[in-house]
Amino acid sequence: MTQRRILITAALPYANGPIHIGHLLEYIQTDIWSRFQKLRGHNAIFVCADDTHGTAITKSARAKDCTEEEFIAAMSEAHQRDFAGFQIEFDNYGSTHSPENREYCGQVWQALKDADLVSQRVVEQFYDVVTGESLPDRFIKGKCPKCEAPDQYGDNCDKCGHTYRATDVIDPISTVSGKPPKLGSAEHFFVNVERLHGFLDEWTQSGNHLQTEVANYLKGHFLGEELRDWDVSRPAPYFGFEIPATNNEHFWYVWFDAPIGYIASTRQWCDRHGEEIDAWWKNPETEIHHFLGKDITYFHTLFWPAMLKTAGLNLPTKVHIHGFVNVGGEKMSKSKGTFVMAETYLRHLDPAYLRYYYASKLGPRLEDLDLNLGEFITKVNSDLVGKVVNLASRSAKFLADDTLSVSYPDDGGLFQAGAEAGESIAAAYENCDYNAAMRKIMALADSANKYVEDREPWKLRKDEARQEELRDVCTVALNLFRQIVIYLAPVLPKLASQTAELLNTPITTWSEAQTPLMSVRVGRFQHMMKRIEEKQVHAMIEESKIEEPAESEFNDGPEALEKEPLAEECTIDDFVKVDMRVARVIEAEAVPEADKLLRLKLSLGGDVQRNVFAGIKAAYKPEDLVGRLVICCANLKPRKMRFGVSEGMVLASGGGGKEVFVLSPDDGAVPGQRVH
Ligand code: MSP
Ligand code: ZN
Repeated sequence: MTQRRILITAALPYANGPIHIGHLLEYIQTDIWSRFQKLRGHNAIFVCADDTHGTAITKSARAKDCTEEEFIAAMSEAHQRDFAGFQIEFDNYGSTHSPENREYCGQVWQALKDADLVSQRVVEQFYDVVTGESLPDRFIKGKCPKCEAPDQYGDNCDKCGHTYRATDVIDPISTVSGKPPKLGSAEHFFVNVERLHGFLDEWTQSGNHLQTEVANYLKGHFLGEELRDWDVSRPAPYFGFEIPATNNEHFWYVWFDAPIGYIASTRQWCDRHGEEIDAWWKNPETEIHHFLGKDITYFHTLFWPAMLKTAGLNLPTKVHIHGFVNVGGEKMSKSKGTFVMAETYLRHLDPAYLRYYYASKLGPRLEDLDLNLGEFITKVNSDLVGKVVNLASRSAKFLADDTLSVSYPDDGGLFQAGAEAGESIAAAYENCDYNAAMRKIMALADSANKYVEDREPWKLRKDEARQEELRDVCTVALNLFRQIVIYLAPVLPKLASQTAELLNTPITTWSEAQTPLMSVRVGRFQHMMKRIEEKQVHAMIEESKIEEPAESEFNDGPEALEKEPLAEECTIDDFVKVDMRVARVIEAEAVPEADKLLRLKLSLGGDVQRNVFAGIKAAYKPEDLVGRLVICCANLKPRKMRFGVSEGMVLASGGGGKEVFVLSPDDGAVPGQRVH
């Protein structure tokens, strides 16, 4: 078999939050593929990095009262700890905020300019009406201009995947003030992607670079019409890299520098291993495989190949796109406790369980994956514990500190059948059809278990005369077990190393499943994997429950409260001292001598009336008030004013002048009713 040179990437996790079980689908999927390729003897490396730029990072850093650099450093450490906890093994884990990345951004940028694909023009942009600051895309929320899904950010829609300009958003709101933004203008840089339309048609629609449904999606949604210029810059201030020769006024948009981070991370690996970057990125012999979720398809299948093509770099051999994780048939939810962070999971459960469960559900298509907790428990317990580990635990103990038979006994062809299945299992892994791979492996485990049950080693044990037969039976069982473990090694690396230890023989290549072990010393069986208890899963879900404010379309700003902070606590006794009543305005007139006041006559029902002077002249016309129900404070001590006595107060909110809002009760209230 010729050795392939394979560069593998997973999407760079965004540095504004911790890793959760949704992300893990991708990193586990990619890690399995990477481990599989290495086990097959290929020259494969798996690189990744934190994606650290953009305004969302600035926002999060501000909230934590630290610098962006401090914020991303802490997050990178947390991400790497989580990945290590799930046995996700990168050959290099970098950051997009690295000198290497800045260098490659500069190179790709120069290539785009040399190809005359970059232009500069003034675009309309949003500004906050309260703070006056310019509003990057992520500070705008509103309805997606394509599918009208509410509550989407100003750059792309997480419902339909469409990307757009913030100014295209329907009913935009600034997340800074909660108010509609105002338009201003700023200069931006654009890449003329349309000039690469022909190349993208060809690249996306031919060969085997994309799953069929992805190729069709691109054809239907983007390639059928002219490709719009891609806005790749953001005006200062922006956390990112400044664009050379722009006087620090322009920065590359995070999605420009993020994929270049794949190259930068590869470069760090090369520097450590004395290799040339061009061997990976400018080498027709190298395969590049990107793994990512469906929400970021567009960036990786249109812009990214366009950038690579222009820069004369390797194009992706294949972009492997997966769906999203749901839990129990619903979107992951913080309030339901199904938005489980990697760290929380690890406090309750063995990472091997999730690695196996995801593997058993992953196919080559991009359908969403449902994590069904009941099925999770059953599958892990019956397959991993009941079928696989059980093979070893039922046979190894009879040969502890003893050796396997000197020649491989007759097993009725079981080992041979397992060896022959190797290539079709490998083909399933290669094709990302892990689900098929797991089914084939479990079928081998079923026949191995049947062998053990038929031969009953626990009975042979008791018969002095049949100890060599016992050795043979256990030799078969342990070899079948090991063969299965080799096939599962990409998914369950820890089980592979435990098995290597038990049988005093390392597991390093796929082909080791072709030859049974003989004469080797068997160690003492150490427990390998526990059954999942339902209560562990329950505890994990309980710990993940977070009261989250219901996601709503209401986005009220904090200004009013900031202007007038809450008053000191009062008791219910304080409260009931104030007697507020429903009242009807029966007369209203301007007080000519006072420019703010209206005189109101309020009826509390029957012949109880109050004469009130209210500072609402700028906001209300007297005739609009007559007949209206209002709330009045009816036991306020009368106050003598220049134009008469005021015998109460009408309740209203607002700062004064035109900003006054008189309170009124809902329909059905009648004058005289007390307000509690
Ligand atoms: N930073 C970008 C990627 C830049 S790549 C040059 C990003 N980051 S992310 O943290 O939001 O997501 C990282 C990966 O995890 C993406 O491929 C995304 O699709 C995947 N997932 C995030 N949530 C997911 C689920 N709930 N389910 C499955 N995958 C999900 O996008
Ligand atoms: Zn949409």
